Amino acid sequence: MQPLLLLMAFILASKAQAGTIIGGHEVKPHSRPYMAYLHRITTSGRKTCGGFLVRKDFVLTAAHCSGSSITVTLGAHDVGQHEGTQQVIPVKKIIPHPNYHPKFNDIMLLKLQRKAKLTAAVSLLRLPRREEQVNPGMVCSVAGWGRLDLYTTTARLHEVELEIQRNEQCISLYRSHYNTTTQICVGNPEKKQSTFLGDSGGPLVCDNTAQGIVAFGKKNGKLPRVETRISSFLPWIKRTMRRF
Ligand SMILES: *[C@@H]1O[C@H](CO)[C@@H](O)[C@H](O)[C@H]1NC(C)=O
Repeated sequence: MQPLLLLMAFILASKAQAGTIIGGHEVKPHSRPYMAYLHRITTSGRKTCGGFLVRKDFVLTAAHCSGSSITVTLGAHDVGQHEGTQQVIPVKKIIPHPNYHPKFNDIMLLKLQRKAKLTAAVSLLRLPRREEQVNPGMVCSVAGWGRLDLYTTTARLHEVELEIQRNEQCISLYRSHYNTTTQICVGNPEKKQSTFLGDSGGPLVCDNTAQGIVAFGKKNGKLPRVETRISSFLPWIKRTMRRF
């Protein structure tokens, strides 16, 4: 990343609300058909977030993407348009992890009011098996509808690549706010890759599998950043989807 861009990234990170994709590129339309765009009403106004479809009637996202009411748009590329592929479905039940704390267990299931119709533009993202782990050095990706730079917003889905880091990297940066069992450390600070943030709630995708959920990072945008480790929440996810 060029110094200027890096600086912008830092400035942006401190302002970012729904998260930001910097230096990534626009995805081929509908090449990530599991992506969900969340419109939510919160005590501080209207906000957005990312998420992903894991069952016809369930979207997985981050718990900090909650709100008093949430509507999900599936099958979107450009969320500023009424695309024929889009399915807009209100959320019937918002289910954050019972032990959610701003830094921990940042995971939430959204039960949709009706089942999504699976199409070329709308499909499920597979969850990992318990033993499927990510390893440092693996390159994964994140997509989102966040800003591109300080002045440019986009309504079209963008993606970035992120490298899995060693746990020690996040322990030294986040201390007791990083838990190796339940979180993943992502984004190589050495490479200064021009990208480091996806929309909150979006999936970290490794080998076509959802391994992480964009959670939090340093306000100054410093890498690496922290994601929720999905493989450690599989029992809760399965139990919750069975119950509702
Ligand atoms: C990390 O999280 C797990 C699961 O919630 C918990 O059992 C463990 O005590 C935590 N570790 C630390 C060091 O806090």
